[in-house]
Amino acid sequence: MKEVYLDTFGCQMNVADSERMELLLFHSGYTRTHEKENADLILVNTCSIREKAEQKIFSLFGHLKPLKEKNPDLILGLTGCLAQQEGERLLGKMPFLDLIMGPDHVEDIALAVDRIRQTGESMVWSTWDERKNYSIPTLEAPPPGNPGASAFVNIIKGCDKFCSFCVVPFTRGREKSREAEEIYSEIRQLVDRGAKEIILLGQNVNAYGKRGMNDPVPFHELLYRVAEIPGLSRLRFTTSYPRDFTRELILAYRDLDILMNHLHLPVQSGNDRILNDMRRGHTAREYLDLVSELKSEAPGIALSTDIIVGYPGETESEFQDTLKLMEQVGFSSSFMFSYSPRPGTPAALLADSVPEAVKHERLQKTLEHQARLTEREARRFLGKDVEVLIEGRSSKNGYEWKGRNPEYWRVHLSGASLKAGDIVKVRVDEFSGHTLMGHALDQ
Ligand code: 5AD
Ligand code: SF4
Repeated sequence: MKEVYLDTFGCQMNVADSERMELLLFHSGYTRTHEKENADLILVNTCSIREKAEQKIFSLFGHLKPLKEKNPDLILGLTGCLAQQEGERLLGKMPFLDLIMGPDHVEDIALAVDRIRQTGESMVWSTWDERKNYSIPTLEAPPPGNPGASAFVNIIKGCDKFCSFCVVPFTRGREKSREAEEIYSEIRQLVDRGAKEIILLGQNVNAYGKRGMNDPVPFHELLYRVAEIPGLSRLRFTTSYPRDFTRELILAYRDLDILMNHLHLPVQSGNDRILNDMRRGHTAREYLDLVSELKSEAPGIALSTDIIVGYPGETESEFQDTLKLMEQVGFSSSFMFSYSPRPGTPAALLADSVPEAVKHERLQKTLEHQARLTEREARRFLGKDVEVLIEGRSSKNGYEWKGRNPEYWRVHLSGASLKAGDIVKVRVDEFSGHTLMGHALDQ
């Protein structure tokens, strides 16, 4: 068998795409290697959400170039969002690339590699898949290995929101949902192979069912139906868009025990002028009202978010509104970013007016603020018993296993005769950042 080396940058969608490419390539005669020096095929699945992500990728390819010079048979491919965004232009910067392929062609990876082997010519494949439907067909042969205790399942691709700062609508295209039957069948298979938790995945899962389906099912309906699948213990979804969050979805949190008590709900900013400029379609008050409604239907729900600091024109007091909103919600964790102008987005036409030093200082303040909130939330669990789905061995000294509680905190625990996939009661003894440590209680 030939060997493929795969490197993945960016979000969970990219991780899922890489896993899919690995599987398709496996059926086409490639096994995965972690040694790039021996690989016959190297694929870097890229991210272009911020400039830093792009820089990392260019420097990685600088290191890969000599491998291609040593072994002319090596196929070097750049896939993912940067490929979609830059397309052919990348060949100007990196003429040694054999393949440039956008996320809409994940299903075609084996075909693309075969064609390059046959013709010896490089290939740029960044057209959109124009078919109405989004399908990830089941392969006849079962995938190698087991899926692990927690598995991701794609339910929707693309994004139609066009937030002013974001490249995703340009790199991943329009929203298209997968037929519900295909999703149930994938979940049933994963559960048969040992998965206990499913995380439904998409850039904006709340828009599920709106486009691209023969038999549309609203998102909350999908949750109720997935919850019926025998053998499934836990259900989650990510990522959500506040304006598409319906009352029915809030009630799903109240009704479905299987839906874990955590929600990732990006807010980006706590200031109305900035939110409006970002085209988020809601005010800070509307976000806070949504959160209160959720908290009253799902007491104890943990909330996490994404924050951008230093958006064009952001004043000190507008930035302070973000800190205030974080405090009001009491996020258990946040992904916090400095604004980075992306080519082709509406915000990139505005002057990137907040100086780098100020962005840096605001980011530090946001990180420190979140650390305080995280500590406050962690104390809620101290001395309490939490249910943990064990995902695997812990690499933390003094602990044997790691998993997550319903609120999606990482938990390291000590305990004998356990295994991945078990759900155990754990007494929390300590915490550090967004991690809890404890011991399994005798069942
Ligand atoms: N600059 C900084 N952060 C960004 N994000 C998206 N685009 C940008 C950008 N241009 C962040 C948002 C989004 C997360 C995935 O990445 O917070 O929710
Ligand atoms: Fe980007 Fe906005 Fe779509 Fe999220 S909702 S992927 S931030 S455009």
